[in-house]
Amino acid sequence: MSASSAVPATHREVHLVTRPTGAPSEEHFTVVEVPVPVPGPGQVLVRTTTLAVLTIMSELIRGRGELPMPPFDVGACVPGPGIAEVVDAGDSGLQVGDLVASQTGGWREYAVLDAQAVQCLDPGALPFPAAHLSQGAAAYLGVVRAGEVRQGDTVFVTSAAGGVGSLAGQIARLRGAARVIGSTSSQRKADILTKELGYDAVVLRNAGSLDEQLRAAAPDGLDVVVDNVGGEQLKSAMALARRGARIALIGALAGQLGDSAVTEIDPHALISGSVTLRGAALFDHLDVIPEWTDFFGRALRDGTLTFPRTVLTGLDQAPRALRELVEGRHVGAVHVEL
Ligand SMILES: NC(=O)c1ccc[n+]([C@@H]2O[C@H](COP(=O)([O-])OP(=O)(O)OC[C@H]3O[C@@H](n4cnc5c(N)ncnc54)[C@H](OP(=O)(O)O)[C@@H]3O)[C@@H](O)[C@H]2O)c1
Repeated sequence: MSASSAVPATHREVHLVTRPTGAPSEEHFTVVEVPVPVPGPGQVLVRTTTLAVLTIMSELIRGRGELPMPPFDVGACVPGPGIAEVVDAGDSGLQVGDLVASQTGGWREYAVLDAQAVQCLDPGALPFPAAHLSQGAAAYLGVVRAGEVRQGDTVFVTSAAGGVGSLAGQIARLRGAARVIGSTSSQRKADILTKELGYDAVVLRNAGSLDEQLRAAAPDGLDVVVDNVGGEQLKSAMALARRGARIALIGALAGQLGDSAVTEIDPHALISGSVTLRGAALFDHLDVIPEWTDFFGRALRDGTLTFPRTVLTGLDQAPRALRELVEGRHVGAVHVEL
């Protein structure tokens, strides 16, 4: 069967109406009703089931700084990653009912996508489809490839309660880390990190001296840093690097959501301590994704790892989900289920 009979004539999309100068919030978006598009040759019509809301979307909406891709267009549907079910497979070779992941399906109920640009999901790979939207591949890249966490290491993960950090701490523990320290913004999140996500200690940004908090949490120094933030947090972490430490640079939230992620470095200290500072981008390590998916699937099934995520329900909740993500209200990945 190449098409489902239950496709409506119209559907809803969330459009960007103005480009905000500050953080995006609900007033910068509108929900519009438009005809459901018709797929052409090599295209499929999909029905969105889950959207992943990411911090980088806030930057692409604001169109500021050096972005890895063009800013989102005002007056158009907000692009973004999600999972969808094929409802019209056309001549693509996919089947109605197949679940696919797309980076650009966008904040809409239905989308026409190039069949070549979607990833058909193996239903057996992960216990539930939304797990394919985790930021775990970046966490795994930071912990395993760039950070090379080893048995007995003391590991510091910045923005430990975020989509990347909430998995990075758990992965570090599974790789044999003896002590895992995280940073976050509130005691509520710190308690979740220590009680539910395997962190031994947490330092709070914006709550006194980070240097002092980190020194107290890691009196013998750090073997690995998985840095999602940059700026002051990276500086404090570098000051505690032990001989041979590996510092994995994965994200720059201090620049994306704050003023700047720029960090002073002391070359003398890094050289004399044989410290490695390594930037790692997932798009240069795509082979990590199947390795991570295999690891994640096994760890979720045997219960050694949990996938923290916050779910909001309804397409019209996507702008709120983005605002709340940027405000730091949630722990783990932030998803919108349709
Ligand atoms: N290298 C790669 O290939 C790759 C792949 C994916 C993602 N990334 C990057 O990795 C980083 C982490 O991604 P993520 O999905 O885990 O992020 P996220 O969860 O979307 O980040 C949101 C969190 O950032 C924190 N935050 C807010 N304002 C901040 C500020 N001014 N300074 C520092 N932290 C602030 C808040 O956490 P607290 O309230 O807990 O502080 C908030 O909950 C991002 O920079 C992302 O772009 C890189």
